[in-house]
Amino acid sequence: MTDPLTNNLCTRLGIRVPVFGLAHRIEVAAAISRAGGLGVYAAARDGPSELEHKLRGLRQLCPDHPVGVDLLLPTGLPEHNTRESVAAALPQSHRDFVQELFARYQVPQATRGNFFSQYVRSQALFEEQVEAAVASGVEVFAAGVGTPPGVLRRARDAGQHTIALVGSVRHAQKALDAGAEILVAQGYDAGGHTGPIGTFTLVPQVVAAAQGQPVIAAGGIGTGAQVAASLALGAQGAWLGTLWLGTREHELPPALAAKLINARSEDTVITRAHSGKPCRVVRSAFSDEWERRGAPEPLEMPFQQALTGELLAAVEEHAIEPLMYEAAGQSVAWLRDIEPVANVMERLLRETRMALRSLTRYTE
Ligand SMILES: Cc1cc2nc3c(=O)[nH]c(=O)nc-3n(C[C@H](O)[C@H](O)[C@H](O)COP(=O)(O)O)c2cc1C
Repeated sequence: MTDPLTNNLCTRLGIRVPVFGLAHRIEVAAAISRAGGLGVYAAARDGPSELEHKLRGLRQLCPDHPVGVDLLLPTGLPEHNTRESVAAALPQSHRDFVQELFARYQVPQATRGNFFSQYVRSQALFEEQVEAAVASGVEVFAAGVGTPPGVLRRARDAGQHTIALVGSVRHAQKALDAGAEILVAQGYDAGGHTGPIGTFTLVPQVVAAAQGQPVIAAGGIGTGAQVAASLALGAQGAWLGTLWLGTREHELPPALAAKLINARSEDTVITRAHSGKPCRVVRSAFSDEWERRGAPEPLEMPFQQALTGELLAAVEEHAIEPLMYEAAGQSVAWLRDIEPVANVMERLLRETRMALRSLTRYTE
């Protein structure tokens, strides 16, 4: 018997239920797809060779279901950026501020690098990431920030379904013009880079602008009732990020997991201190310090991440609790425990079916 939740978009993508999940762990993305949804691996923090390796791993973990890969491709970055040239452009006042944070929170130097202490975002790096993503054979290519038409065409030519995340009708139009086949309308409530329009307001406007092309709702979704509401707003699915941070497969450091479990919706803040672009994160001493009177203005992308890369690599390695944070949406209110992806999916689907059933009383 077919699942009543299997809609046109599910059929087109070869999935059973219209629940989409973005995660930085291949184990999470694979588990979402194995549970019937579509797991999308967020690859923006991988260098090109690591990305190839991760996408091979993703396929091995999920050989029988479609999966996706997501890249951030902002325009306007220089063609090539070396760490040296970017480092030379960092103002001394900003370097001093970061050194003060090292001292105030007694952060030892990192012994291992992370993406931001090793790479600098540039068009040349994006090109290598795109090459790895398009050649990987994963079924879905998502563009998180920026929709370069040439990249979307290459993904389509490689047989991938193309998705673009948008935060306004203007972005939606641009993404459609660039050839995106499916839109994720991501509202202000969302974790990660976010625009100023709330999910409830944004989704129906993007649905109207998309003129029949499928739209998925994102931002602040943590329950099945909200998945059902997304369908009622005209979307063909719901796309979640924050909720998966609380899954066993994500293996967050315990101190960070505790911070998220204890956070309420109002404990997330939008800050440019993370990447240089407005990004919703769980509040921490890191975001507070950049808000402090006398703190410097965060730099633009890619300079802010080059500035803070070593500090944040050290914070992660040495688990410096006050400074630990992660991108998180207002949906953090529903992240209350660490449990397997399959349980989260099972609950979401049960709640979705219940919400849809309860609405029929208005039509009988
Ligand atoms: C930890 C985290 C990292 C994210 N990283 C990306 C990313 O790399 N690319 C992207 O397109 N979206 C990213 N997002 C945004 C998600 O794709 C999604 O739109 C958002 O999480 C939806 O709102 P929610 O967090 O309330 O579920 C991220 C979100 C979170 C929480």
